[in-house]
Amino acid sequence: MDIVTSRDGAVLAIEFNRPQKKNAFTSDMYLALAAALREGERDDSVRAIIFHGQPTVFTSGNDLEDFMKRPPQGTDSPVFRFLEAATEAAKPLIAAVNGPAVGIGTTLLLHCDLVYAGDDARFRLPFASLGLVPEFASSYLLPLVAGYQRAAELLLLGEAFDAQKAHAAGFVTAVVPAAQALDTAREAARKVAALPVKSVRLTKALLKDAHRAAVRNQLQVEGEHFREMLGEPAAREALAAFLEKRAPDFSKIR
Ligand code: COA
Repeated sequence: MDIVTSRDGAVLAIEFNRPQKKNAFTSDMYLALAAALREGERDDSVRAIIFHGQPTVFTSGNDLEDFMKRPPQGTDSPVFRFLEAATEAAKPLIAAVNGPAVGIGTTLLLHCDLVYAGDDARFRLPFASLGLVPEFASSYLLPLVAGYQRAAELLLLGEAFDAQKAHAAGFVTAVVPAAQALDTAREAARKVAALPVKSVRLTKALLKDAHRAAVRNQLQVEGEHFREMLGEPAAREALAAFLEKRAPDFSKIR
């Protein structure tokens, strides 16, 4: 199972479990993630939801091979179902990040309420360097939390950055020793799960409501560009280069 769920009292944990591919998300994994989230939302006994990977990896983002074989077609696509489930989640979402958190591994965090990063975490938003555009409303949410210049640097240059930089950018709650990231997330989840459920739900709704319409709109607009760009020569070259384990050559691509 590439997505594994487990329960500890009122806390649901959703684990990315494809370590041999650095937890790269396939279409099937997006469907499983969306289903796990929807089930967690539906089940009244769940009061907080944790995302985590293994001690050395959160996720390397979209599976680039799957991307080429099964490009997302629209709002019905597996990836979009997950994006919708995460943006609409009413219960607290908590992430524990160790190792690489690339692409959607970073943009997912913009939708989480509490994010604990191990000091080994490495973030990256490589969309432009893959000939693509930002997703998961990150082109809206990142400037909002990090400020324009910081967001532009991370989204345009697409270079890897560490947990301290992610904390300074505003989307990591706390940086903790690597071995403590998951335990810290579990502890926070237990605390929030013990609070009055209606107050927690309304507090999250109040925090999210001001930007809900803009986030939904940006998801759509980014999605249209993303699908279009996937078919362009730059993305095809970048994805082929990744599979062939070589550097991409954009010199002849306009
Ligand atoms: N899609 C598909 N396969 C991926 C993947 C991805 N996003 N990320 C890693 N893998 C695969 C590698 O191809 C490799 O497979 P192989 O053993 O069959 O050759 C395996 O996972 C291990 O990855 P590797 O690159 O050797 O690990 P690493 O520790 O050196 O580097 C990363 C880890 C995450 C930094 C690096 O794999 C990477 O940059 N991946 C691409 C991330 C990306 O661009 N994601 C898309 C965002 S939109």
